[in-house]
Amino acid sequence: MPTAVSLPHDVKDLALADAGKRRIEWAEQFMPTLASIRKRFARQKPLKGIRISACLHVTTETANLAITLQQGGADVALCASNPLSTQDDAAACLVRDYQMSVFAIKGEEHDTYYSHLDSALEHRPHISMDDGADLVTLAHTKRKEYAKGIIGGTEETTTGVIRLRSMAEEGVLKYPIIAVNDADTKHMFDNRYGTGQSTLDGIMRATNVLIAGLKVVVAGYGWCGRGIALRARGLGAHVIVTEVDPTRALEAIMDGYEVMPMSAAAAVGNLFITATGDKNVIAKENFQNMKSGALLANSGHFNAEIDIPSLTKLAKSRRIMREFVEEFRMSDGRCLYLLADGRLVNLSAAEGHPASVMDMSFANQALCAEYMVKNARKLERKVYSVPHEIDRMVARLKLESMGVEIDELTKEQAKYLNSWSEGT
Ligand SMILES: NC(=O)c1ccc[n+]([C@@H]2O[C@H](COP(=O)([O-])OP(=O)(O)OC[C@H]3O[C@@H](n4cnc5c(N)ncnc54)[C@H](O)[C@@H]3O)[C@@H](O)[C@H]2O)c1
Repeated sequence: MPTAVSLPHDVKDLALADAGKRRIEWAEQFMPTLASIRKRFARQKPLKGIRISACLHVTTETANLAITLQQGGADVALCASNPLSTQDDAAACLVRDYQMSVFAIKGEEHDTYYSHLDSALEHRPHISMDDGADLVTLAHTKRKEYAKGIIGGTEETTTGVIRLRSMAEEGVLKYPIIAVNDADTKHMFDNRYGTGQSTLDGIMRATNVLIAGLKVVVAGYGWCGRGIALRARGLGAHVIVTEVDPTRALEAIMDGYEVMPMSAAAAVGNLFITATGDKNVIAKENFQNMKSGALLANSGHFNAEIDIPSLTKLAKSRRIMREFVEEFRMSDGRCLYLLADGRLVNLSAAEGHPASVMDMSFANQALCAEYMVKNARKLERKVYSVPHEIDRMVARLKLESMGVEIDELTKEQAKYLNSWSEGT
């Protein structure tokens, strides 16, 4: 096992690598889809000669993706897509045992975070892999010189896809991107069941509160919000949903939740969870109406969903109650509690999504990287959905790994379903 590390890297402590290795192997057991892709990649080397710079949450699951890409022949550099989500032991293991350039330290300051992004780009990637579009943004702004060498990229999350689509619409996107988030086998499972479980996990680890009986306000009833609401209800909470989209609000009502505006929910909620991808979803006037003891958590990509600058201005004093819980005492004596600095609570205070769901998201990432190598020349500077065949293949591989068989259309049925003249 290699121990001398000469390649560029910046991780907390290489001595954590043994623990990281064990936890990466633990996650691997729950990632059979990715494992089957890794086996094929190791044989066929579809990424030979390709440099990939990935800006993802540096977790044990991401480590399994990075190892898969490396087995496929890629030279991988990795930095964090959030300053609080890095698992230092996993980062150490990738550097020491896999000779990968990793630039990520849990709790890194703003400047370090951005210098780590710089370092990842200095790897001179052919492919960028993003979770929130920070790497793409950097390659289109301060470090434009690196965009030239990039043939294409992939994007993991809703917020990143929104940013990239607006770049494509404005005609400024310099290379094609595949929106991994758009795959059914990504958002229907990762955003819903992954975020649902891990968000509640993060809140419980941070606070140790009993969820049963709480009034939990979920802002946003998209893929993440649906999962969070479902899991909060499963734990015995009374769930209130806030939305701006009338159809999604209706869906929440018919799924059995109460729906009201944040202005009304603020006065009744005990625990607030934002998952909208929007900014200032919980704003100054809402803090002014909240009950003392209210807990504020975010699971959306950026820490902009809770208006922390206003909360800070309203507070007469602040103190850290326990790791990831900060008390904001108002001048009227009420105390509001912000979890994990308003950053993704599931990745900051817990470990992010369980490996079995990241299995599908990262299977999409690996297959999309391969697709990009084969097809980048034919693609325009646009944001593309994950090819349907890849999405279906991931679902099939996952079912296979679960030992689940499904029916197949008979020839007669296929004809019936595909022909407008049948059934008349
Ligand atoms: N925590 C995680 O691990 C994780 C995982 C996946 C996605 N995300 C992030 O979570 C966020 C949501 O993702 P999604 O896939 O659920 O997106 P989505 O587009 O499916 O849902 C977002 C919902 O929020 C609603 N919304 C927007 N502004 C609102 C407001 N002011 N008040 C109430 N509702 C509002 C929208 O109408 C929409 O229904 C994104 O930032 C995404 O990047 C986080």
